[in-house]
Order: sequence, then C-alpha cells, then structure tokens
Amino acid sequence: MTASTGTEAVRFDPAPSGLRGTLRVPADKALSHRAALFAAMSSGDVRVRNYLDAADTNSTLAAVQALGARVQRGVAPGELVIHGVGLRAPQETAAPIDVGNSGTLMRFLPGWLAVQSGRSWTIDGDASIRRRPVDRVALPLERMGARIEARDGRFPPFTVHGAELRGIEYAMPVASAQVKTCVLIAGMAGAGETTVIEPVPSRDHTERLLARAGAPLRREGLRVTIGPVEQLAFDAIDVPGDPSSAAFLVAAAALVPGSRIVLEDVNANWTRIGFLRIVERMGGAVAGELEAPGAFAGVEPVTAVEVEHASLRGTTVAGEEIPLAIDELPLVALLGCFAEGETVVRDAQELRVKEVDRIEAVVDGLRGLGADIEGTPDGFVVRGTGGLRGGRISSRGDHRIAMLGAVAGLASRDGVEVDGMDAAAVSYPGFTADLATLLTR
Ligand code: S3P
Repeated sequence: MTASTGTEAVRFDPAPSGLRGTLRVPADKALSHRAALFAAMSSGDVRVRNYLDAADTNSTLAAVQALGARVQRGVAPGELVIHGVGLRAPQETAAPIDVGNSGTLMRFLPGWLAVQSGRSWTIDGDASIRRRPVDRVALPLERMGARIEARDGRFPPFTVHGAELRGIEYAMPVASAQVKTCVLIAGMAGAGETTVIEPVPSRDHTERLLARAGAPLRREGLRVTIGPVEQLAFDAIDVPGDPSSAAFLVAAAALVPGSRIVLEDVNANWTRIGFLRIVERMGGAVAGELEAPGAFAGVEPVTAVEVEHASLRGTTVAGEEIPLAIDELPLVALLGCFAEGETVVRDAQELRVKEVDRIEAVVDGLRGLGADIEGTPDGFVVRGTGGLRGGRISSRGDHRIAMLGAVAGLASRDGVEVDGMDAAAVSYPGFTADLATLLTR
C-alpha cells in the first residue's frame, strides 16, 4: 500500500502479501455516543473508559458541554470523566447545537430536549446531516406532546420545543436503534410508561446501559418498556472495540490471500455482529466468542476476532439480518465481488438514508472499479467475478464508503484511489495507519 497524494486522495495498491498481526480497533462509536449522552443526563460523575476519539463522538462531547455537562479529559490515559447536568436540567444554548456528521446524535438529542417543558433548542449539522430525515423521531415525540419544527417538515435545522410528555406505545415502522433510543429517553421523563415495539431486533446498547443505570426497563420479545426515572446513576462505563470498524479489517483479511489477523477486545454483542455471521456463511474463516442471539447482559461482551483468508461463496442477506449488520452491508457487496455466484442484499432500504444513499454509493462506486453489481430499491445484487479491476472511487464524504474503497484497493488487481479518504476520521481516524501496520508485519 502506498498512502500518497495530499490530504484528500489516497491510493491503495494491491496488497503484495497478506495482512498479518494483532491490533485493537477504535472504541465502539454507538456505545461512546450513548455513554456521553447518558452520563450528561445523570446527576453524578461518570468515568468513561476508552471513549472513541473521532469526529462523530467529539461532536457528542461538544453537544453535552453546550448543554451544561462538564467533560474532564486526561484523568487517566483514554479516560473521560463526565459531570452530568441531570435529566431535567440541560442549559439552553445561544447557538444551534452542531451535530456535525452524526445522525445518531441528531436522533438521540431530541429525546432528551423534548422533555424540558417550556424550553427550546435548535439542532443543525453538516451538509450530509441536512439531507437526513428527522420526521422518524419527530413523529413519536409529537405523539408524546412535544413540538418539532423542521425545515420542509422533516430536515435539519430543526427546533425541539419541550413539553410535559405523556407515555405512549409506539410501533416503529422500521427497525431503528436510533429511533428506539430517542423514544426511550423521552419515556424516562414522560408520565406513565412508554413502550417501543420493534418490527425486528436492532442494536440494544441503550437498553443494556439504561437497565444498568437503574431505569425501570422491561423487555418482552420485541417490546421494550420504560417507566419514569428520577435520576440515572452509572458506575464506570467501559467501551469495547467497535465491531463496525473491525469489519473493514475483517473484510480485508478475508479477501487478501495469505492474511491472518487478530483483532482484540471487539464488542461481541449479538445485535452488532451480524456481519461476522454473514462472512462465516460465505465460507470465511472467522473465529471469536460471539454472543448467542437473544442474550441480554448488563455489560457488553468482548472477544478477540481472528480472521484468515478463505475463498468465498455468494449469499443472501435479508429480513432480520439487516439491522444486525446495517453499517456493514457495503462490505457484503465488496465480498460478493470476490465470491462464487450471486450475493443479494434486500430489505435494506434504510441504507438510502444513511450518511449518503449507501445503495447508490456502493453500486456506482464498485461498478466503477469493475464490479458486476445492480442496485434495487432496497439493496443490491452482485455477481461474483472472482476479483475487482480497481480504479477510482469517491467517498462522497461518507466514512464507510472511504474505508470500503481502501479495502477494495488492497484486494484489487490494479489498486484503488480513494477521493475523500479523510472522511474515515468520522469513526476511524487511524484506519490507513492500521492497514499499513497489518501489511508490514
Ligand atoms: C446506530 C444505529 C443505526 C446505525 C448507525 C448507529 C446507533 O442506525 O446505522 O450507524 O448507534 O443506534 P438505525 O438504527 O437508524 O438504522
């Protein structure tokens, strides 16, 4: 691999030999957002170990500070102490709260702000955020009694007008952990109980953390119910490695002949490791102690993930598997290019409202590198050709498309130039350096 040319375009040459070695991927982004926000909502000091230092999660720290929480860094290496403002006492802000590129932060904050009766906040973000819908959280919050004013009725910037909320039962039209979290947060300060019903399971970090903090939370199948909470109280929160970041290295090792890598301390929560199960089904050599489906422990399970190169066969990913691998579906398309037969992803229309339209970005991007791939309204179909030619791909400012391009380059015949590789800093600032490390061992 040669990392060359300036800050934006980086060229990833075909890997001369396999990826080898052991490393720790960055901390889990989904858990870091929750740790900072829930700590800010609590009344005491919360120690967060291994908080993710990346653009998205730094937006969350800035947002909770704007709302009055204090963030103390450098207490010990990799640790933060967050002094919360309490569930009912966030400060009003003079300027809009800037969520940067983070859709997760944009969907979580309104849940907290909507319960602050008689007060208002405006939320805004970057150009990608301004294209992402907020009606999915506005709808349930308005049913609870809040008022949300959004640009064109559904886009940022938007203003949350807090009110005394009532508990509701909300059947979510799509499985979204972001929406589930928003409604559960609002439910903690509503009158009576609030129940969220998911069509299929989505990541459950919020439920695990809130239950640990003493919130009255019940799970019955696809129903999660929460009751009013006076204050949240946390002991320390430990953030394991992010399985979504690990997935890029897993894919690289699965694709490049001669590879064998070990990724330490990866979150093994069953609602996050759908991709590893898909890779196994495609014939990939993946080992690790993965949590059994349906498990619900207070603490997030961790495992070392070991991956070796293997030849792959096509597969179909659909239905209940989609939310469990939602951020890794672009990588399924890439693996499909190298697999024997057809790889199909369907029921994944949610990909159209991610940082970019990820169906379009993946289909156009991989096709430009020589893939035989077609988009469908809710996914894509890839016919494996045993490899990829290479060429040029634009990240479109999306961190996961940037990293997809890099992995494609290592496994390709001619290499790939990724325009806008700096987008990786949203979740994995050291990605290019980590790849280089695994390639020189
Ligand atoms: C996230 C949930 C997912 C995921 C996003 C992070 C979360 O979104 O795509 O990257 O932390 O809850 P949806 O639950 O809306 O699909």
